[in-house]
Amino acid sequence: MKKILMVCLGNICRSPMAEGAVRHAAAARGIALEVDSAGTGGWHVGEAPDPRAIAICQSNGVAIGDLRARQIAAEDFTRFDAIFALDGANLIQLQQMAPPEAATNIWLFGEFSDIGSVADPYYGDANSFDDCWRQIDRAAQALVEAIGNGEV
Ligand code: 4NP
Repeated sequence: MKKILMVCLGNICRSPMAEGAVRHAAAARGIALEVDSAGTGGWHVGEAPDPRAIAICQSNGVAIGDLRARQIAAEDFTRFDAIFALDGANLIQLQQMAPPEAATNIWLFGEFSDIGSVADPYYGDANSFDDCWRQIDRAAQALVEAIGNGEV
């Protein structure tokens, strides 16, 4: 079973939403995946996802309330088969952190669809979480399809 990691800045908005959306999309397609998420920053370690992220996921049938934020660790680069960055800044940071010997693939989460980078909704309003969810859900479906096709 493939192990994959979703990474954003705080691990309380985008990457837990991506973790939930990818789990949901994989289950719907019958694809076995182990999915986790982490942040490049450590400000929110141990916290549940942002209540606005929990709410928008909940209303789309995806439960993320039990997740707790953690910061990415060096072992993650070898523990996971692939790591997916929610935006371009996260991607650059991951590439800089990755030990040279790590064979892990690092991708932009939204590169399998036309989504590209998913903007940080943290300082936005409820609408920004709606938009964020739509992007993440579409990117998650494309990502799971790419994994199913053996592209990742
Ligand atoms: P996330 O959003 O990266 O999607 O989890 C953020 C949440 C908190 C902070 C930054 C981004 N922060 O700086 O506290």
